[in-house]
Amino acid sequence: MKVLFTSPEIYPLAKTGGLADVAGALPPALYRVGADIRLLMPAYPGIDAMARAKPVANLGDPFGRGEATVLEGRLPQSDITLWLVDCPALFHRDGGPYQDGAGRDWPDNDLRFALLGWAAARLSRRDSPLSWKPRILHAHDWQTGLAPAYLRAWGGPRPGLVFTIHNMAYQGLFAADLVPRLNLPWSLHTMAGFEFWGRISYLKAGLAFSDRLTTVSPTYAKEIQTPAYGFGMEGLLSYRAQDLSGILNGADYTVWDPATDPHLAHRYGPDQAAQGKAVNKAALQAELGLPADPSAPLCVVISRLNDQKGMDLLLAVMPALLEQGAQLALLGTGEHSIESALQALARARPDQVAVRIGYSEELAHRLQAGGDMLLMPSRFEPCGLTQIYALRYGTLPVVSFTGGLADTVVDASYETLLHGTATGFVFDQCTPSAFQWCFERAIGMYRHPERWDSVRATAMRQRFGWEEAAGRYLDLYRSLMPNGEAGKAGSRPQV
Ligand code: ADP
Ligand code: GLC
Repeated sequence: MKVLFTSPEIYPLAKTGGLADVAGALPPALYRVGADIRLLMPAYPGIDAMARAKPVANLGDPFGRGEATVLEGRLPQSDITLWLVDCPALFHRDGGPYQDGAGRDWPDNDLRFALLGWAAARLSRRDSPLSWKPRILHAHDWQTGLAPAYLRAWGGPRPGLVFTIHNMAYQGLFAADLVPRLNLPWSLHTMAGFEFWGRISYLKAGLAFSDRLTTVSPTYAKEIQTPAYGFGMEGLLSYRAQDLSGILNGADYTVWDPATDPHLAHRYGPDQAAQGKAVNKAALQAELGLPADPSAPLCVVISRLNDQKGMDLLLAVMPALLEQGAQLALLGTGEHSIESALQALARARPDQVAVRIGYSEELAHRLQAGGDMLLMPSRFEPCGLTQIYALRYGTLPVVSFTGGLADTVVDASYETLLHGTATGFVFDQCTPSAFQWCFERAIGMYRHPERWDSVRATAMRQRFGWEEAAGRYLDLYRSLMPNGEAGKAGSRPQV
């Protein structure tokens, strides 16, 4: 099974969130179950050296921004071939994959990610400059959404197309006058194509022109077919319900396991949970300048700071949280108003609140290890990996009942406690009072160590490995090629 897998970010090469974790862990899992998988992403600065990549093909200059080249290297710590789309004018600059250092979107993201989609399409065709040709093109999120559109526009044989939605809130919306500059035909700029309220949507291109759609949890697959979660595309998603499925993400336990985590001074497994958590908690309190109080429930947050993640709810309940004697340790970046409100809180209550604005992979691991509970009051959450990691680290998640949070955390109710299946605390309505009631329940249980230890032991035993998801993606790929003949002729694979 030859699969070209394209994503705008792949851990450990470039990461802004969970998409990178998925794109760094799912391909190795697919490789282990027998897929011949190759990766494609932009050559952001420094990645060529990390991947030891060398030029292997020239792609020409599709958008007048200079020649694009394909560099070939390896995904670090794997045998997986990685191709980088190199175009200095578009990708060689300081800052993040999508934004500059001040958090502003790059003004030419339209062309930057058009090039990624265009290159993925080009490398999927028989006339690709590379000899290896995929049977499946698996693309992720709006940044790769134009790949299926180019293949539709060009016609002819093509691989089966799978498109995974990691977040409906990011749609890659640009002015329609871009269409000719992208060398795409106006005939695709319709309601059934990539047109969205007069503009072009790269996400909609992926949704409209791919053979199969997936999202990263079963619950989110249902939610996005409703107006509350579909961001205006619920009609299209319901129309394509037969082609849409939810495959729950996994966790990469080679990176996220407290027993082997290189970022921790004190490693621990399920058998040393109580002691392991206690020493990591003390180390974290010291690192962040919080009082060394073993009995204060230490709540941690590792998050993008925005509306999706319910950070306004967090701010609203903070007085109640502090009133309960809890400590808060937060790591995140995002909207400036939320960043400043959190920083002001930390200045006002240094005895209970520590806030680190920024991005730190190491601190994220230490927060997971040192926290007693992880707060994640998301308004919507396609999957969420942070709570899955928290389970493994014995940091009980306090989460809203949505998307992947609903699929991965079992609320501590009378019944689940009785059956020994509880792993965290879940609240239904995204309101401050529901969130407050929920963490008060959590803090109440924290004060009963025996009960707490038992829920924590169950949490740490949960397994969300990638094997199961890899098997399901492989089945999906196979469903696109009866007789192994997908994409032989015509504009659709022969299904
Ligand atoms: P999302 O992708 O929506 O941001 P996920 O829970 O799926 O949410 O994944 C978030 C990933 O990003 C996790 O690996 C988490 O540890 C990481 N992360 C989020 N914010 C930060 C930060 N400020 N510093 C380091 N890692 C972060
Ligand atoms: C997105 C979602 C998050 C999901 C991640 C990986 O960033 O917001 O819920 O876990 O993608 O699929």
